[in-house]
Amino acid sequence: MHRWGTHLRLSLFTSSLGGRQLSRVRSLLRNPESATSVRDFDIAILGLGYVGLPTALAFCAAGSRVLGVDISEGRLAAIRSGQVDLVESDRRRLGVANATESAWTLSNDISLLARARAVIVCVPTPIDAHAVPDLRALEGACAAMIEAATPGQLLMLTSTSYVGCTRDLLVEPLLARGLQPGIDVHVAFSSERINPADEAFGHEEVPRVVGGFTPECAAEAAAMLGRYVDATHTVDTLEIAEASKLLENTFRAVNIAFINEFANVCRELGVPVTDVIDAAATKPYGFMPFRPGPGVGGHCIPCDPHYLLWQLRANRVASPILEQAMTGIAHRPRRVASRINSMLADAGVPPKSARVVVLGVAYKPNVADVRESTAIEVIEILRKQGTRVSFVDSRVPAIRLADGEVLVASDEVHHADADLVLLHTKHDDTELTWLERHPRVLDATYTLEPRAGLSLI
Ligand SMILES: NC(=O)c1ccc[n+]([C@@H]2O[C@H](COP(=O)([O-])OP(=O)(O)OC[C@H]3O[C@@H](n4cnc5c(N)ncnc54)[C@H](O)[C@@H]3O)[C@@H](O)[C@H]2O)c1
Repeated sequence: MHRWGTHLRLSLFTSSLGGRQLSRVRSLLRNPESATSVRDFDIAILGLGYVGLPTALAFCAAGSRVLGVDISEGRLAAIRSGQVDLVESDRRRLGVANATESAWTLSNDISLLARARAVIVCVPTPIDAHAVPDLRALEGACAAMIEAATPGQLLMLTSTSYVGCTRDLLVEPLLARGLQPGIDVHVAFSSERINPADEAFGHEEVPRVVGGFTPECAAEAAAMLGRYVDATHTVDTLEIAEASKLLENTFRAVNIAFINEFANVCRELGVPVTDVIDAAATKPYGFMPFRPGPGVGGHCIPCDPHYLLWQLRANRVASPILEQAMTGIAHRPRRVASRINSMLADAGVPPKSARVVVLGVAYKPNVADVRESTAIEVIEILRKQGTRVSFVDSRVPAIRLADGEVLVASDEVHHADADLVLLHTKHDDTELTWLERHPRVLDATYTLEPRAGLSLI
């Protein structure tokens, strides 16, 4: 998978250059603009989703000339009309960008990438039904970027992926096209660390890890990101940067899987898990509090570690702790459904004829995103057994189930007549007072005050 020989080939290549070629290389690296006459954009963002759009807006706010490219006309239309899920500060930036004609250019025309000084790829890297990485979007985006690449450009991946991906999808294809990475174009990887709905850490304040194909590539990438981020941390290779993102997310996966398991243990022992965590968190070193829930509270965590496990399988290398954590995460929705069934059974309500309401279906509070949300799987399990399920979510108007059926959110906010209410996700505006009088509530958020009729997962 890795083409470690590329570095060697590059140094052989540079050492074999004649005087005129070397001076062209030096001139290109010193002044990328000399490679091409037209640079209408400082930066092009390829993929304007949860990551790409705030990134584009941050560059706009920093005064860069931005090109935003997305293959989805629907997404572009939503951005132009402001109908997108953003934190308030980014929503304000979007309003400014949309109201200012010269602020940015939005397009689905990939060929425009050639007119940008740098291109950043922010396309999705999901997994398929068998937990195998689905690289189609990333491969498509990289292929398009390479086709449009012009000498002097900086090409940067930010999508989470396996270690060696930047070499496979950028370095090698560039060489095949006759463009020398590190000489004709700069190549870098810098993972995105955005936390949707989190206003506490502004986009600018979160340092970016940068790895380049050469030190000059890394410096160019750090300088480009430095237009809007306060700090960058440059590492020696592309692979260190790629692996650091996988470490961040596998670290979270393992710890969340463990705290979910620990919550089950506390339930068996009759000890309130949140009080236990709060107590342990008073230790000023060596402990980091993670909170239990119905899932992992993110759409990346159930996916990203599989990029690592997939790669390790090919190398016949085991990572048993991570594998066990991912199994625990995958089983969590079944645990939630099984707790619902036992609460219904305890109340003498046959699950088949029960009516269950799911309060909040987004994967975490204050987002409209349901990717990898455990709520969907819980709803599917319950529906398969015959339970009538409806949902309420102020941010999610409808969800699509695995069989293609679309479930529309209930208009009613209060469902006093439901046999059981599952509190899955608590947005800031979620109406909770009616739950206080409900006889059966399963609190998957571990945040409601204990009382009779309320259970934890
Ligand atoms: N969302 C997060 O919280 C988050 C945080 C950190 C890192 N990441 C990583 O960032 C990457 C992007 O995630 P996201 O949540 O923004 O995805 P997303 O699904 O919200 O958005 C991706 C966008 O890319 C577009 N797209 C797909 N293929 C394309 C192509 N070939 N050319 C141009 N556009 C294309 C889609 O239409 C979509 O608008 C992923 O690798 C993800 O793991 C996400």
